[in-house]
Formats: sequence, C-alpha cells, structure tokens
Amino acid sequence: MSDNTQFKDKVVLVTGASSGIGKAAALEYARRGAIVVGAARGAAEELEALAKKEGLNISYLQADVSVEADVDHLVSTIVEKHGRLDIAFNNAGISGVHAPIVNAELKDWDRIIAVNLTSNFLLMRAETRQMLKQGSGAIVNTSSIGGLTGASNLAAYAASKSGLIGLSKVVAMEYARFGIRVNVVVPGYTITPMTDKTSTIISNFKEHSEEATPMHRGADPLEVAHLALWLSSDEASFVTGQVVAADGGYLLNGMPLVEKPEIL
Ligand SMILES: NC(=O)c1ccc[n+]([C@@H]2O[C@H](COP(=O)([O-])OP(=O)(O)OC[C@H]3O[C@@H](n4cnc5c(N)ncnc54)[C@H](O)[C@@H]3O)[C@@H](O)[C@H]2O)c1
Repeated sequence: MSDNTQFKDKVVLVTGASSGIGKAAALEYARRGAIVVGAARGAAEELEALAKKEGLNISYLQADVSVEADVDHLVSTIVEKHGRLDIAFNNAGISGVHAPIVNAELKDWDRIIAVNLTSNFLLMRAETRQMLKQGSGAIVNTSSIGGLTGASNLAAYAASKSGLIGLSKVVAMEYARFGIRVNVVVPGYTITPMTDKTSTIISNFKEHSEEATPMHRGADPLEVAHLALWLSSDEASFVTGQVVAADGGYLLNGMPLVEKPEIL
C-alpha cells in the first residue's frame, strides 16, 4: 500500500498528463496527497473524469510545451494559484516520424527537438526561477532508452532524448547548492498510446520490443511513474543528476534468454 500522505500539500506539475506515463503519474501523485496541475497539448477527459471520480486534487491546463509563452504562462499560473511549485515531472514527448536519416525532413527534426528538448529548457528555466525563490524543488525529466543506445529511424527522437540527459545534468549541477534536485527517468518499452501508435506503423513492434526486454514484457505506465515519484520524493533527498531506467533490464545489453534456466 502506498502512503497517501507522502506528497501531502506538495504542488506538482506533470506535463504530458493527458495520456500514458504522465496520466499515471498525475493520478498517483494526487492519490498520495499532492496538489497536481496536469498539462498537455489537447484535452484530458479521461484524467479529469478519474480525478473527479476519486476526489483527487488535479487541475488541468492545456499548453504546448514547445512554446515559450505557453510554458511561462503554465508555471506562472501554478504559482499564482498555489503560491509555489515543489515538484515538476517534465514528461511530455513525441516519438515523431520514422525514417532513416537519408529520408528525414528538417521540419520533422525541428518539431521533435522543439517538443522533446527545447521544451525542457523552457520548462526548467521557468521552474528553477520559482524554485530558487523557495530554496527547494525537485525536477524529473523523461528521457528514453533510445537516448542512451540510439534508435534506428528515430534520429531526432534519440538526439532529443540524449540531449535531455546532458541538459538535465547541467541544471542539476547549477542548482544543487540551492536545494533543487534534477534527475532523469529512462523508460524502456512501456504500453501507452505512443507505443500503440508505433505498433500500427511497424509490424512486430510489440513482439520485437518484448523480445529485446529481458523481462519479456512492456511496462505498465505506473511502473515508470513510480520511479519518477520516488526520484522527486524526499526519500531521494541526496539524489541529483542521475539517469535511472525502468526498462525491464533492456540496458543490460545481455542476449535475451532463449531457454529458461534450469531451476535447481
Ligand atoms: N511509451 C514508451 O515506450 C516510452 C519509452 C521511452 C520514453 N518514453 C517517453 O515517455 C514520455 C511519455 O510518453 P507516453 O508513452 O506516455 O506517450 P503518450 O503519447 O501516451 O503521451 C504523451 C503526452 O505528451 C503530451 N504532449 C505531446 N506533445 C506535446 C506538446 N507539444 N505540448 C504538451 N504536451 C504534449 C501528449 O498530449 C500526451 O499527454 C515521452 O517523453 C516519451 O518520449 C516513452
């Protein structure tokens, strides 16, 4: 049983809260007592309906995280309404167009870098400005296994997620002494609308992803959200600048087992 007071009265921003990992995280923060502001590009009917049904403290704002004015407005609205920002889970992202680099288009590259990387520069700039005033704060950014290993046909995605790790480390270094922690969560194959969509584009994507994951399955979004929650919690008070995977063993780089080991 999780502690429903762990994040009591903490003001938490979750981006990408309308779907997948972000939705799971927004709900879980609120179930553990947080005042959650979810943000994403479109509507978030499911999140809002669940929050209402469970009586959770979640409000929702539409924002495009790649747009400077949207991001600044998002953070200033939270501070105006709640007086502070304790935790930010900067998780919104897109996988983008699948193409080898010889066929890749600059407009697609620009969009993916804007949504997955520039967004986090904008978000962390606004968030740290507020957290510096408070003298405390915890930020978690969502990268990807593709940001560590590369990902064929996804140059912009892999580059954006790799860049996000470098960016996160810089912000972690700059503000550690001011009580602000910054960490990165690295999801492996996770079953969300993003990967459901990829399955419609790449045949065998699900089977291949499961095979490449030593645990031989995709994550439930909550399994990734749990790691983000921990990294942002007081239990991780001495943890900053870290890149931590919830990937079912993918980054072990071992050959997947063909046979089950004999149990003696
Ligand atoms: N699902 C996976 O297997 C997987 C693996 C590695 C990393 N990730 C990363 O995890 C994060 C969440 O992915 P997911 O699988 O939950 O995807 P998802 O498609 O279910 O959710 C993505 C969320 O981001 C929001 N979003 C997209 N563009 C936005 C924009 N410009 N402005 C604001 N919000 C925007 C969407 O509205 C949605 O709420 C992403 O950063 C993704 O790259 C996912």
